[in-house]
Amino acid sequence: MLEVLSPQPQDKILQLIAMFRDDPRPGKIDLGVGVYRDATGLTPVMRAVKAAERRLWEVETTKTYTGLAGEPAFNAALAAMILGPGLADRTASVATPGGTGAIRQGLELVKMAAPGATVWVSAPTWPNHPSIIRYLGMKLAEYRYFDAATCDVDFDGLIEDLGRVARGDVVLLHGCCHNPTGANLTMEQWGRVVQVLQARGAVPFVDLAYQGFGDGLEEDAAATRLIAGAFDEVVIAASCSKNFGIYRERTGILIALGDPARKAVVQGNLAWLNRQNYSFPPDHGARLVTMILGDPALTAAWKAELEEVRRSMLDLRRQLANALRQATNSGRFDFVARHRGMFSRLGLSEAQVQRLRDEAGIYMVGDSRINIAGLNARTVPVLAAAVARVLAA
Ligand code: LMR
Repeated sequence: MLEVLSPQPQDKILQLIAMFRDDPRPGKIDLGVGVYRDATGLTPVMRAVKAAERRLWEVETTKTYTGLAGEPAFNAALAAMILGPGLADRTASVATPGGTGAIRQGLELVKMAAPGATVWVSAPTWPNHPSIIRYLGMKLAEYRYFDAATCDVDFDGLIEDLGRVARGDVVLLHGCCHNPTGANLTMEQWGRVVQVLQARGAVPFVDLAYQGFGDGLEEDAAATRLIAGAFDEVVIAASCSKNFGIYRERTGILIALGDPARKAVVQGNLAWLNRQNYSFPPDHGARLVTMILGDPALTAAWKAELEEVRRSMLDLRRQLANALRQATNSGRFDFVARHRGMFSRLGLSEAQVQRLRDEAGIYMVGDSRINIAGLNARTVPVLAAAVARVLAA
């Protein structure tokens, strides 16, 4: 049986982790995988998470199974953080193993409910989106999103392509902090996207992996809330990996908004899907999140640290845009300060990205996506000088 298997393509993001690890050069810089790092290069356990873990150790009396959908308190707290109040009667939800688990379960739900639907993704998007869609044998289409010349959103192209979506198709949207580009829609532009998708009869599927990393916890949920209020049916996949810094705990949620009269059936289908794939979702991270969101002091501590993280990335963006302005003697990279979230796509060629790796030990994804949080005050000018060098050659 196993002899028929052929090698799978390497994941371009995860592959960088090993390449970076195996590089012996002391000055190497990792701008690859989307993991927050502080100025010393560490990915700390957030203070509120540590406090919740301590408390959990004391109060947890059993490790028996949770419900198939996860703990209701987790689902309610996280759904409220994402959607705000007032939608509980439309909200079916399950805890999932991270954001990827939520995407996977969400796509399986779509496949069950609308097997013929095409799933539209932005060009470009997080590579795992098309990979899972193809793996599930679903139809895939792309809408334009990024203008390679300006490194901003190609809004005209986006609207034109969304105008071709067929009734019942599913459109995957990044709720905030677009990955990989860092270019995001204004709320006015989101309003227009909603109008077009409503006119087409599409079903929005929001991927919300970076809430709190862009303009703020509430601000980053604004587009998702706009969509939730505007459509009868919405699928939302959200991750706690980044905003709670609990990457390896695999903590996420899949939300399906629909007709309140159908909520119990949808909820049953979500729980059934969990049973088919892994039975019970991971609990530890979900329990920490529930404790933090349920305790005003822990919530305040967590929000304060998340805001520190967000501001440090904004500061690095400003530093990098300035350094690139000086190093290249141009405003070509000013978009870095306008972008939001963890990533920016710099607009370099694959060959230039390769040279940065070979000659300067700077690791970024082949499409020139950088993780802003991989930088610090010392490495910002190093990156800017290296970029200027490969551009000049
Ligand atoms: C990323 O885009 O780097 C992160 O979401 C990590 C991953 O799983 O790809």
